[in-house]
Amino acid sequence: MLDLRRQYEPIRGELLTALEQVLDSRQFVLGEAVAGFERAAAEQLEVAHAIGCASGTDALWLALAGAGIGPGMSVVTTPFSFFASVSSILRAGATPVLADIEPATFNLNPLAAESVLDQQGQAPVRAILPVHLYGQCADWDAFTRLTRERGLMLIEDAAQAWGAEWNGVHAGALGDAAAFSFYPTKNLSAAGDAGLVTTNDSGIAERVRTLRQHGMRRRYHHDELGWNARMDGFQGAVLGVKLKYVRAWNDARRAVAGRYDALFRTAGLAERGPYPSHGVVLPREVSGARHVWHQYVIRTVRRDALREFLTARGIGSEIYYPVPLHMQEALQSLGYREGDFPEAERAAREVLALPIFPELREDEQQRVVAAIVEFLS
Ligand SMILES: Cc1ncc(COP(=O)(O)O)c(C=O)c1O
Repeated sequence: MLDLRRQYEPIRGELLTALEQVLDSRQFVLGEAVAGFERAAAEQLEVAHAIGCASGTDALWLALAGAGIGPGMSVVTTPFSFFASVSSILRAGATPVLADIEPATFNLNPLAAESVLDQQGQAPVRAILPVHLYGQCADWDAFTRLTRERGLMLIEDAAQAWGAEWNGVHAGALGDAAAFSFYPTKNLSAAGDAGLVTTNDSGIAERVRTLRQHGMRRRYHHDELGWNARMDGFQGAVLGVKLKYVRAWNDARRAVAGRYDALFRTAGLAERGPYPSHGVVLPREVSGARHVWHQYVIRTVRRDALREFLTARGIGSEIYYPVPLHMQEALQSLGYREGDFPEAERAAREVLALPIFPELREDEQQRVVAAIVEFLS
């Protein structure tokens, strides 16, 4: 599914030098390695502020809390994402309100989001939190229009979308604030847990910097309740090295995705979509988006049997995500039931992520597609 060694080996020397510098400096928490990465990250994303933190989950909480989201407020998001998209809203003290996804992109549907803004009996909605799932931005034109009309904050879960763009603007510079994850499988990844908040709003940036450090502006004077959400120096050093390569890695991912498309089409397996019947529905890049292919996710009807077939042949695959968030045990108190979000539930039954990473070779992709052809015929 993913061979991190192929990324690590060519930059091993550079990484070790950067880690040695952290050891020599003894700045193990934040410090110059993190500050240097923050500056370079902000420059690459063309955004005013980048604030390093301990994980993508912390980044989401910091972005929400930094934007003033808290108790007595609701935030609209998607049921088809990683758990943290919803749990971070709860952590900020607010209430998640879910709306269904678009079947073609798996991203939050702006019309569905609009339809839940004024529901009876919920705390007033103050923000929308779309997720750029699998590396493709949510429909930002529609979300910008909607949030401007309604005076809402717009916050990006960009955990999977380093380098993605919408109409030429980078994910991370699109909303009021954004959260990135550098979990080791991500397009830009740390050697452990790390995350980043980005924003063009200096007020939000200042608040996020304080919240990640126990609400402390002056040493041991705590102005508000924050948390320890700081980035380690080692992670800043690793990320600072990898940042120089991530554009080329994303270009390579785009080439890998293009090769999958061509192989499936040549095999006559590609269906029109958005729903599969006998073949596979291929993921697609929508107009306005620059997809960075964190995942290459097909839809197919006999998904679980296909996955077993691939596993038996030594081919990795993964299901992101098998259980939509409204059906998670830990979120039952939100009061949703099976059937509430049919698109998310159907996607959870049909999606299958195939191996994709910058160094994946064409012959390996041919093997993956040949196995799927064999299964489906
Ligand atoms: C969409 C999404 N949001 C949030 C997160 C949380 O990031 P982390 O695992 O770094 O805490 C992840 C990553 O796993 C993610 O994929």
